[in-house]
Amino acid sequence: MTLGKTLEIRELESQDEQQAIDAHHLMLCEDFEFLPTWSAAEDWEDYIYRMKAGRRGEHIPEGWVRSALFAAFDEGDLVGRVSVRYEINESLFQVGGHIGYGVVPEYRRRGAAQELCKFGLQELRESGIEHALVTCDSDNIGSKSTIEKCGGLLDAELPEIEVNFGPSKLRFWMPTRLIR
Ligand SMILES: CC(C)(COP(=O)(O)OP(=O)(O)OC[C@H]1O[C@@H](n2cnc3c(N)ncnc32)[C@H](O)[C@@H]1OP(=O)(O)O)[C@@H](O)C(=O)NCCC(=O)NCCS
Repeated sequence: MTLGKTLEIRELESQDEQQAIDAHHLMLCEDFEFLPTWSAAEDWEDYIYRMKAGRRGEHIPEGWVRSALFAAFDEGDLVGRVSVRYEINESLFQVGGHIGYGVVPEYRRRGAAQELCKFGLQELRESGIEHALVTCDSDNIGSKSTIEKCGGLLDAELPEIEVNFGPSKLRFWMPTRLIR
């Protein structure tokens, strides 16, 4: 069943701690950080405070940009997350871009990534950004398809050597106007 419009997408709160940390550990196996910059040494309340402050442009680590983290829930169950970066630095221009999303394995192939990506586009548009940069590994078929369905147009393919010998990357631009 498609998740689509039934998803609640919002910032993380106190009650989300266990689900979010479980998702983080689960997706580390895929080399994906569900909770960016989180470590077990940090109190959950401090982490969610820091994420919300980051959205306001406060408590930003050196070399980072203003950003926010939003999570998607289906009837209270954590489905995925989207990071939104309101600015692009040189590093994000190469890898990462404005929007990064991930979906918990059991909820995949039901449209969640598309909804998270569209939510990120709307958030950027409300901040006055008209075109979003999004990147994915060249062999990440699910992410590439998500980007294309959200209006992404291929800008460049970066060979391995230009991305610190990681997998080659695709870079897309997409208009942030709503496409739904
Ligand atoms: C990539 C990822 C976000 C896709 O999430 P998802 O919720 O399954 O994606 P959706 O259901 O919204 O699918 C979007 C489109 O991609 C297609 N798709 C998704 N996963 C696919 C896969 N593994 N193979 C082929 N197509 C795939 C879907 O079929 C859909 O197209 P359709 O509407 O024609 O059916 C998810 O697999 C994931 O979290 N992977 C690990 C983290 C990651 O790679 N994040 C992206 C970093 S750039």
